[in-house]
Amino acid sequence: MKKYSLLVLLLAMSLLIFSQEEADDAVPRSEENSKCFACHGGPTYTFSNDMLERKVTKLMNPYFIIDSVLYYEQNHKSFECIDCHSWDYTSFPHNNELQMEQLPGCLDCHEGDDATAQYKFEQINDEFHESVHSTKHSEEFTCWMCHNPHSYKINARNNDNILETIVYDNNICLSCHADVNKYNLISDKEKPNVIDSHDWLPNQIAHFSRVRCIECHAHVSDDVLVAHQVQPKKDAVKLCAECNSRNSDLLASLYKFRAKENRSKFGFLNAATLSDGYIIGANRNVYLNYLSGIIFGLVMLLVIIHAVLRSISK
Ligand code: HEC
Ligand code: HEC
Ligand code: HEC
Ligand code: HEC
Ligand code: HEC
Ligand code: HEC
Repeated sequence: MKKYSLLVLLLAMSLLIFSQEEADDAVPRSEENSKCFACHGGPTYTFSNDMLERKVTKLMNPYFIIDSVLYYEQNHKSFECIDCHSWDYTSFPHNNELQMEQLPGCLDCHEGDDATAQYKFEQINDEFHESVHSTKHSEEFTCWMCHNPHSYKINARNNDNILETIVYDNNICLSCHADVNKYNLISDKEKPNVIDSHDWLPNQIAHFSRVRCIECHAHVSDDVLVAHQVQPKKDAVKLCAECNSRNSDLLASLYKFRAKENRSKFGFLNAATLSDGYIIGANRNVYLNYLSGIIFGLVMLLVIIHAVLRSISK
């Protein structure tokens, strides 16, 4: 009995060690931002009403609430609100004309920027302009529609947990394709129900949590890591074989970067043997890999101890 509880304890401990998240490098929280978060950080805000000569508390528009935790974990965490928004927002009530403010786009800052050249913003921009979204709604559909200005964080490039990346990326698409309100910001057509439109897909839940929407919907290109040219539905991947074979589009996009990285980290052999068959990579769990390694090690140890004990007792 004791042996078993020790084993369980050992396993639990090793799981704990392996599941420790790396600590995010902390950013100093700006004084200036905390003034904005005082109102935009939660469901209510308070201000002093000079006419009534007292403090008044009101409900914040839910779409104007910004999660400060997500804000300080994202790509632009070092930014002050007024780096993008007008300085005039520092006074309240905000001037009504501010609603017309022109906000910067990604390319305004990233075009020709050496520090972020690896992301290939210019190519992404070209791809996006050929997508269904942009060709049909060039004015309203900006990069910000998918890249939430207050929470977008790179995943596919640097997150080792592929399942997390898949969920992250799919939630970007579902933020409209599963939300009528946001969808109607762009189009007044009736929003198709994505569950119904994918009726033909066997085991839909498993697919949606293990395959990215863009894997079937975006034209794969060699130039950029994340394909941005979302195509009309008639051009979507529908053949299972196209996807589930080893040299599939999946390998081409989500895994090409990871495979390259693995090859340089562990040598080609490892990358080649680590690539899985079924929905590639998605059914592979790193912790389970570690766990099976540990169990294998322990079993070997027991066998050796057993053999040693037997030979001693003989
Ligand atoms: C005293 C509370 C309060 C403070 C402080 C405050 N806001 Fe606001 N903000 C509001 C309210 C209420 C609204 C919605 C009504 C409106 O637009 O005036 C709003 C709306 C906004 C909008 C959306 C405007 C639109 O209609 O598109 C932006 C952007 C904004 N605030 C930015 C900021 C920034 C940046 C700061 C900090 C420099 C800030 N706010 C500080 C209360 C506040
Ligand atoms: C990197 C640039 C950037 C920074 C930094 C930034 N914003 Fe924004 N913000 C935007 C953009 C772009 C939009 C318009 C989004 C859209 O069109 O969907 C926006 C929209 C808003 C809105 C209106 C909500 C909406 O969905 O239209 C509020 C409120 C707001 N920002 C407040 C803030 C506050 C408060 C901060 C600081 C904590 C901040 N923003 C920092 C770019 C930024
Ligand atoms: C107002 C200028 C500005 C705008 C607009 C802007 N960015 Fe940035 N972005 C920056 C700067 C500056 C950095 C570097 C931030 C830092 O190192 O703290 C950055 C960092 C990034 C990074 C992380 C780079 C890295 O290696 O850590 C990504 C990804 C990124 N931006 C994507 C975007 C996307 C996508 C958009 C549009 C949806 C956008 N940015 C809009 C200025 C901007
Ligand atoms: C239809 C949704 C959508 C639109 C519109 C969109 N993106 Fe993206 N973008 C994504 C998704 C999904 C990712 C993957 C996020 C992740 O996992 O890092 C991404 C990733 C990126 C990355 C990081 C790629 C990398 O190599 O790590 C950049 C840079 C980027 N987008 C720039 C842009 C720019 C610039 C625009 C506008 C011209 C734009 N995006 C418009 C969905 C979109
Ligand atoms: C800001 C909201 C929004 C986001 C985010 C968004 N879409 Fe869309 N999408 C739309 C709208 C609106 C249309 C309808 C365009 C039209 O036909 O007028 C559309 C159309 C499409 C179509 C074409 C359907 C057809 O009839 O041919 C596909 C495929 C699609 N989206 C996939 C995606 C994928 C994949 C993502 C994530 C990478 C995504 N969308 C993100 C709003 C969005
Ligand atoms: C396995 C491939 C695959 C995946 C994964 C996938 N789709 Fe599709 N999708 C298709 C195909 C094929 C169609 C066209 C179906 C038809 O016309 O019968 C389609 C249709 C659509 C349409 C058009 C709906 C309509 O009825 O007009 C939208 C929008 C869409 N998909 C969005 C998404 C989103 C968002 C995701 C991720 C959550 C996603 N798709 C995941 C293959 C896929």
